[in-house]
Amino acid sequence: MDQVSYFSGKTALITGGASGIGAALACRLAALGAQVIISDIQQDLATQVVSQIQESGGRASFVHLDVRNFDQFFQVISEISPLDFLFNNAGIGVGGYFSDHNLEDWKAAIDINLFGVFHGLQCGFQVMKRQGFGHIINTASMAALVPSPAKLKLLWWLERLFPSLLCRLSFKQMKKILQPLGLK
Ligand SMILES: NC(=O)c1ccc[n+]([C@@H]2O[C@H](COP(=O)([O-])OP(=O)(O)OC[C@H]3O[C@@H](n4cnc5c(N)ncnc54)[C@H](O)[C@@H]3O)[C@@H](O)[C@H]2O)c1
Repeated sequence: MDQVSYFSGKTALITGGASGIGAALACRLAALGAQVIISDIQQDLATQVVSQIQESGGRASFVHLDVRNFDQFFQVISEISPLDFLFNNAGIGVGGYFSDHNLEDWKAAIDINLFGVFHGLQCGFQVMKRQGFGHIINTASMAALVPSPAKLKLLWWLERLFPSLLCRLSFKQMKKILQPLGLK
């Protein structure tokens, strides 16, 4: 199946779609014929991406969604029918020395990078199970998979969450999802 037939007519919700990887993903999926729902907390930036897609003839819309908020996530997802793809892409980076971080940095990283993904999985899985189909794709850095001395409890959880999800998909299924996006 070619890329267009795979995504054409499908609906994709992308969290953190206002910039970076999420915005690029939104543009690519829309160019392949998908109906793209861009969610983010940065409304101005997100609506620029929506306009860009629409001007190129694609189908896109914006919905405000803070992935830290489970109820909001559930509400947004419940209103999309059917939901073919959920991209749990929203995330933040907290870099630098541990001593430079404060409690708020840590709380934000855990709330967004861990609970944000978990909320998406919980809400997306419920809806997709009911519909009988759907794909959930989580964006993570290699830090989620590769051990390092600096690894902290957050990554410990991600490590366990990801393989448990991945093992539900055969290698063939993974290739089918990722290849049309140009990922190998
Ligand atoms: N760019 C990289 O090199 C890299 C490396 C490893 C992992 N990642 C991961 O890839 C994903 C995308 O990264 P990016 O580089 O495109 O970053 P980015 O900062 O350009 O995009 C992230 C988006 O997430 C949104 N966001 C932040 N908090 C949110 C919240 N609470 N609710 C909803 N949206 C929120 C931001 O507004 C932003 O639009 C992230 O999960 C990031 O951790 C990126």
